[in-house]
Amino acid sequence: MFKFPGDFYWGAATAAYQVEGANSNSDWWEWEIRAGLKDRSGQACRHYDLYNQDFDLAKQLHHNAHRLSIEWSRVEPEEGKFSETGLAHYRDVILALKERGIEPIVTLHHFTNPIWFARRGGWLDRSSPKYFLRYVGKVIRSLGDLVRFWVTINEPMVYVYHSFYLGDWPPQEKSLFKARAAALSLVRAHIRAYHLIHDVYRRENLPAPYVSVAHNVQAFVACNAAPRSMAAAYIRDRWFNFGFLKRLIRSKSLDFIGINYYTRSLVEPANWGLRSMLIDTSSRSTLKKNSMGWDIFPEGLYELLVRIKIYRLPVFILENGICTGDDALRWEFIRGHLKCLAQAMGQGVKVLGYIYWSLLDNFEWDKGFAPRFGLIEVDYGNYERKIRESAVKLSQVSANGILEDEVN
Ligand code: FCB
Repeated sequence: MFKFPGDFYWGAATAAYQVEGANSNSDWWEWEIRAGLKDRSGQACRHYDLYNQDFDLAKQLHHNAHRLSIEWSRVEPEEGKFSETGLAHYRDVILALKERGIEPIVTLHHFTNPIWFARRGGWLDRSSPKYFLRYVGKVIRSLGDLVRFWVTINEPMVYVYHSFYLGDWPPQEKSLFKARAAALSLVRAHIRAYHLIHDVYRRENLPAPYVSVAHNVQAFVACNAAPRSMAAAYIRDRWFNFGFLKRLIRSKSLDFIGINYYTRSLVEPANWGLRSMLIDTSSRSTLKKNSMGWDIFPEGLYELLVRIKIYRLPVFILENGICTGDDALRWEFIRGHLKCLAQAMGQGVKVLGYIYWSLLDNFEWDKGFAPRFGLIEVDYGNYERKIRESAVKLSQVSANGILEDEVN
């Protein structure tokens, strides 16, 4: 049995574009059409209209925190022109959480950009941090009195990898040089946003905020003992897990470390070429998988958390979840990861909370609506919600903070 601290945060996450619907001023919206995606985000989960109902369900599941994101293109649909309606909407959403005793954790950038920003060159434009800062300033001055936890950028490395290196997300670039440039813009944007948020809170006499990024980490495991595999696993771990993080730690721009953890990657480079070293993975893994083929490997979370302990900052699990048609496997996944989290906490890692991805089934980017990550099932025919059994089991843990030893 493990007892989580009384002030531990329990909840689930969403991202605006994946649940709200009708985000037609976003670069993803345009790209879905251009790329001819089979599933278009369309109305998504209609969360833009149904958020009250969704938060009632979260409350019923004993969540005391919820991570959401703000869609930049709703707040600033045209360059420099802010939408008061857009801002008022997010104020209502955050108030709806607070009325239910649920702590909002608010992400400012979750993969999507306004179309005007993308047309200016997006994150490859050297001025991109400046535009981001203007938007952040506006949001913080409008919502700062309601929010303590801010996540500036969701998974910068994942975004850079897909959008600028693999090229399977907009703007579909495939260049290490551009990936590096975009990563630098994101680092600058985060550091400046960190200071801006703190400045506004100080000026307005608000209690100090907690600001971080949501950093995706993966267990990179060599598929065999060959030097090439070992080297590739080492490089990816350095570059993907720790390079970016260390940069932010050095700049003292994290109040906690926001972690997203899903899987391990079994590394199997075909040759010593840079591209192969950075992207080739093995399909020979025998571990259980989610419905997108990602390995289920809770031990990786434990190992990474213990390594992150040296930075002496509290950690917040901001995403961890599984897409599956087998809800018993979902519970096995959650339970396995909570066990590893408990183990890491037993080793002295300070963890503020556990946020499951996701509250609802939703639009999984280029993979569309097929992957089912939700604690709550969404019927895309009539937008009805149904609580899954795994959500009830997790709610029993969040209700009293006790993780029993036996398999429940
Ligand atoms: C993470 C993203 C999130 C969702 C999950 C499955 O990388 O932050 O939006 O797509 O993966």
